[in-house]
Amino acid sequence: MTERLADPGEEPAPVVLPVESEAEMEQLGEELGRRLWPGAVLALNGPLGAGKTTLTRGIARGLGGRPDQVRSPTFTLIHQYPGRLPLYHLDAYRLQKAAEWENLGPEEYLEGDGVTVIEWAEKVITCLPAELLEIEIAGVGLATRRLVTLRPRGDDYRRLVSEVARVWRGQKG
Ligand SMILES: Nc1ncnc2c1ncn2[C@@H]1O[C@H](COP(=O)(O)OP(=O)(O)OP(=O)(O)O)[C@@H](O)[C@H]1O
Ligand SMILES: [Mg+2]
Repeated sequence: MTERLADPGEEPAPVVLPVESEAEMEQLGEELGRRLWPGAVLALNGPLGAGKTTLTRGIARGLGGRPDQVRSPTFTLIHQYPGRLPLYHLDAYRLQKAAEWENLGPEEYLEGDGVTVIEWAEKVITCLPAELLEIEIAGVGLATRRLVTLRPRGDDYRRLVSEVARVWRGQKG
């Protein structure tokens, strides 16, 4: 049993980062965006108004794109923004079943050269690649403080999370 506890295992402990404001949420997105690679997938969860789109705005900036153009793709389902890498911004909120997701032709994005960010990803999580970064935003209702939980699936995402957590905690002193 003790050995199992010492084992790094398939699922590392999630990293929880405090985010105090909308501006900080964008900043966290930027730290992520600067380090993303072609084919990276980010699965965002959290209630209405949690800050998923705000985080995505920061990701767009980190990718060298225009954050001011980023809006929730709630009705259009997909937005695409140019940058160092293209950013595919999807929203599963209005999807009723997995078949509707498949109709969007998601492999074009998920297996493409860009970065894919999905809001309300829990609705389609079974349709997503095994390796991705799950990001859950909690704490809505407590003024502007949020807790952002990062759950990396796979080594690339694990490295990304430890790097961003190191930088984030360093900035917070
Ligand atoms: N720490 C914070 N991080 C992000 N947004 C915050 C924060 N504090 C307050 N806000 C406010 O919460 C709202 C977040 O909106 P946003 O569109 O990013 O949420 P969302 O999770 O994408 O919602 P939806 O599910 O409706 O798409 C904004 O109005 C923003 O000003
Ligand atoms: Mg949104």
